[in-house]
Amino acid sequence: MITATDLRLPSSPLPFLGLLASILTWLFIRWPIQQKSQPQKIEEKAEEPFVTPLPNSQSADHDSISPKLYRPFRHGPNFITMGIRKLNWDNWIEMDSYFLRYHDMKASELKKDFKEHVKYVDNAVTRDACFELNEELVRYLVHRYPNIYRLEGGKVHNSLTGEEFSFPAATPDEALATSALLVQDDLVIMVKNDDGEYHLDAAAVCLPGFWRLKEKFRMSLDTLHFEAGVPHYAAKLQKAMNKFFQKLTPDKPVERNNFFIQLDDGLHWSHRMGEQSGSEVASGATANSKGLSVQEIHFRSERQTLRRLPRSKVIVFTIRTYFEPVTKLAQEPHVPGRLAEAFRSWDETVSFYKGKSHWDKILLPYLDEQDQLQRQNGIMEKDEEGDFPY
Ligand code: HEM
Repeated sequence: MITATDLRLPSSPLPFLGLLASILTWLFIRWPIQQKSQPQKIEEKAEEPFVTPLPNSQSADHDSISPKLYRPFRHGPNFITMGIRKLNWDNWIEMDSYFLRYHDMKASELKKDFKEHVKYVDNAVTRDACFELNEELVRYLVHRYPNIYRLEGGKVHNSLTGEEFSFPAATPDEALATSALLVQDDLVIMVKNDDGEYHLDAAAVCLPGFWRLKEKFRMSLDTLHFEAGVPHYAAKLQKAMNKFFQKLTPDKPVERNNFFIQLDDGLHWSHRMGEQSGSEVASGATANSKGLSVQEIHFRSERQTLRRLPRSKVIVFTIRTYFEPVTKLAQEPHVPGRLAEAFRSWDETVSFYKGKSHWDKILLPYLDEQDQLQRQNGIMEKDEEGDFPY
């Protein structure tokens, strides 16, 4: 209980008077500001349209650039998270010595069935978005990789393949297919629909591994992840991802990495996961592991980027697949041990989604053995581990 004694003034009134003077001075200064901050007419400044920064050029010959060693698995628990990081404009699109392999596989997929791999919704925003993506890519590529790409006489030239593409493209289809052939990535355009959600309304997807564009076409962000059975989507991702899509601004591109185990060497499609032309769900869980050997097992890792295009305001999602036999990966310092640790940390839901029961009995003993060898040979001490995504 507070008594009158507790409220007694100090025996000397000086400190109290000092405090009172400070409060009065603060009120005096503050009052006019508060008055001023009443609503007042602010002259509206026209917003400057955002112009994508030009990348620095990379002059190294693409043949000398090995694919990046993204090894995005951590020590300890590996949770499903959004895991997005800020993207440096220079690195929007990565090119390396595997370019021709990717390009040729894409060209052959497009030849086999163009409509399976290139799609767009025929409305004004989406058509414009296809052209804008092509324009942004060409502008980026000729500045980033001037040894390879050149824009001249209304054509984009690729010195590696000898191809020439009309620029600007004549149709949205052409804009998408040309874009697909210019880079190693698959390309997706997410458009905000009348329901307020982002939908997969245009894409050029030639190397998806185990999902079919015709199935996901026009789906909302939520539906396409729910349909795929992405683990913990509702609890861990849905809210954050939707908020991210609504708020993303053109000046803040991001990137993220994931990884899967694939039981064959199909860069464009994993035949062990299902028929490419079929309609049954293809996934880690549906994989056929009959007669599987460790030499067949591949590590599939996607580097994805997300950015909002300034004119059409759509969101572009790029998917660059990095793909190697696990037997190759296992020779890299620290990798077999850390990868085995990550697999063991998955909960049941993640393990099911990634099809762990189809390969763990072959892969885990192999990784343990390779890890043991690295330890015996003192490899860990010789090589620093680096930071995520390693
Ligand atoms: C912030 C953006 C996004 C996040 C955080 C995210 C997250 C995820 C996660 C966690 C998975 C499970 C596999 C993995 O570990 O990556 C997944 C799978 C997938 N996501 Fe996303 N995603 C995003 C954007 C998109 C977009 C824009 C598309 C549009 C095509 C998409 C299509 C897919 C597909 C097709 C799968 C594989 C489905 C399957 O297993 O069949 N994602 N996503």
